[in-house]
Amino acid sequence: MSFDRSVKIAPSILSADFANFGAEIRAIEAQGADWVHVDVMDGHFVPNLTFGPPAVKAFRPHVKTFMDVHLMIAPVDAYIEAYAEAGADLISAHVEAGPHIHRTLQAIRAQGVKAGVVLNPGTPAEAVADVLDLVDLVLVMTVNPGFGGQKFIHSGIEKTRKIRKMLCDREVHIQIDGGVTPDTAPLVVAAGADVLVAGSAVFKGGSVDKPEVYGANIKAIRDAAEAARA
Ligand code: DX5
Ligand code: ZN
Repeated sequence: MSFDRSVKIAPSILSADFANFGAEIRAIEAQGADWVHVDVMDGHFVPNLTFGPPAVKAFRPHVKTFMDVHLMIAPVDAYIEAYAEAGADLISAHVEAGPHIHRTLQAIRAQGVKAGVVLNPGTPAEAVADVLDLVDLVLVMTVNPGFGGQKFIHSGIEKTRKIRKMLCDREVHIQIDGGVTPDTAPLVVAAGADVLVAGSAVFKGGSVDKPEVYGANIKAIRDAAEAARA
C-alpha cells in the first residue's frame, strides 16, 4: 500500500466519557475519525494517570481503524511488549523519557508494530535527527503533556517545518498533539503535518447520544486543515 499523505484526524479518547469507551470509540469512527489516539500516562513522566495494558486491550475490539498508543511513561522499555500485545497498531515514545530512545524504537519495531518518536514543546527538532530511519511517525507536542484542553504552543509550527525538511523523502507521518482546533490545524498542516490529534475539539458538545456533533467537529478540523494544503 502506498504511503498515505492525506490529512488524518485522530481523536484522543482522553476527552471521551470514561464510563463508556466502547461506545465512544464506535461513535467517533462512525463520525469520520481516521485513527483512535490513546494517551497513556504514568503519574511520573507526566502529572496524570490513565490507561494500563488491560484497558488498551479492552479498547482494541472496538477500534476498526488504527489504534495509536502515545506512551507518556518512563521508563518505557519494560512496557512495550504489554502494549503491543494489547493490540496497538503504533506505539510512540518520548525522546525525553530515557537515555536510549534508539533502543526503545528498535524494541517497538521488534514487536511488529509501527514506531513513533515524540518531542515535548521544550525539545528541539534536532533531538530526533539520528532516529528518523527507525520511525513511522514523529509526534510534535504542541502542549506540555498530561492534560487535555490546554492552549496550543505556537513554536511547534516551526519545529514541524524543520522536521518535514529533515525527513527529506522518507515516508514518515508528522503528528500534532495538543490544542488542535479548526484555527490551529491549518498552521501545522501547512508546515508539513498530516496526522492531527484532537481531544476537546472533537468531543466538545457531543455524546454517544449526540454523535453528529463529533462528526461536525471532526469535519470542521479536517476542512480547515485541507484548505491549508490547497
Ligand atoms: C496531552 C495528550 C493529548 C490531549 C490533547 O498530554 O497527549 O492527546 O488529549 O487534548 P486537546 O486536543 O484537548 O489539547
Ligand atoms: Zn497524545
